[in-house]
Amino acid sequence: MKILVTGGAGFIGSNFIRYIFNTYQDYSIVNLDKLTYAGNLENLKEIEEQDSSCKKRYTFIKGDITDSKLVDSIIEKDVEAVINFAAESHVDRSIDNSRIFVETNVLGTQVLLDAALKHGLNRFIQISTDEVYGSLGPDGKFSETTPLSPNSPYSASKAGADLLTRSYFETFGLPALITRCSNNYGPYQFPEKLIPFFITNAMTDQQLPLYGDGQNVRDWIFVEDHCSAIDMVLHHGKPGTIYNIGGDCEKTNAEITKTILQELSKPESLITYVKDRPGHDRRYAIDCTKITRDLGWSRKYVFKTGIKETVKWYNENQSWWNKIKTGEYQDFYKRWYEDRNKQE
Ligand code: NAD
Ligand code: TYD
Repeated sequence: MKILVTGGAGFIGSNFIRYIFNTYQDYSIVNLDKLTYAGNLENLKEIEEQDSSCKKRYTFIKGDITDSKLVDSIIEKDVEAVINFAAESHVDRSIDNSRIFVETNVLGTQVLLDAALKHGLNRFIQISTDEVYGSLGPDGKFSETTPLSPNSPYSASKAGADLLTRSYFETFGLPALITRCSNNYGPYQFPEKLIPFFITNAMTDQQLPLYGDGQNVRDWIFVEDHCSAIDMVLHHGKPGTIYNIGGDCEKTNAEITKTILQELSKPESLITYVKDRPGHDRRYAIDCTKITRDLGWSRKYVFKTGIKETVKWYNENQSWWNKIKTGEYQDFYKRWYEDRNKQE
């Protein structure tokens, strides 16, 4: 099978490409990525370096998913499936400036859908998020029929893309599917998201800025388990269907932070409580009965193993994140945390 993976130089996309090459010896992948601040070709260095037969299986194209001419020219070359990971993915940045979120996440998805339709593709997978459902109270879980109620510009743009994807199935019969996964963690995650940000800050004895009271809950899944779920959806999912994917692992941000500090033998005095994120969703929890029952998917990792592996990876790959943390992305963070640290 020849797959177009978009956003393959990011966190989940790069883990997915590695997963596919390790699982299927005869699949080839075209990776279309704009290489924004979050895209990094180092994430796929060993794939690039593998033997020449593998090189024939892997092609990288630097480009934007909103570029319809480029997307069209890639898909017409025997691509059988599109998996759309490309996105602006960070809630805090969407609060700072939402325009690029609409451009990439909504318009980019529309461009991909049109090209997939034009060339009669038999699989289009939109990689979405549980954040489109909004926020939960203390009880209950998101199911695939929970009404969409996105609260951040990021989740609103992802919900827009989901609805467009759904409409291409209903209106044109495009065999499109949507996956909605909970919070991922693991190797190669850009150190702006909670877990890698706190691991790398703790390693360098910097403060860990917990938003609000630190009691917001997320459902954590190890990235490889997300990849295996997408693999199942690619091969066995029913067109027009939404599949929730989750880790069955609810933890408060304070719990996550303390676990990281324990793993690194660092003191809790590194924790600083800062002003809350505006519109901060209180709790996410995913009911993933459907993918488990209908496609036979199951997770391999429990949190205890996954977080140990993640901390070990950041320990062993300090040059990967040092380059990022000292680069230009610091400007956004300096401004953001100066604001968060201001007393109300
Ligand atoms: P990421 O920010 O690490 O990577 C995004 C990638 O997309 C980068 O390589 C970037 O260069 C590329 N990209 C951005 N704009 C582009 C454009 N216009 N054209 C081409 N490429 C572009 O994100 P991630 O955490 O790997 O998330 C991947 C997908 O999974 C996203 O769609 C996200 O909404 C979804 N998701 C993420 C999580 C999570 O916990 N990280 C959970 C559920 C769903
Ligand atoms: P994040 O990794 O940004 O993912 P998302 O907002 O998509 O769930 O944040 C996870 C949780 O951690 C969220 O409740 C916000 C919180 N958080 C902090 O408390 N401090 C931080 O510096 C960051 C980045 C996140």
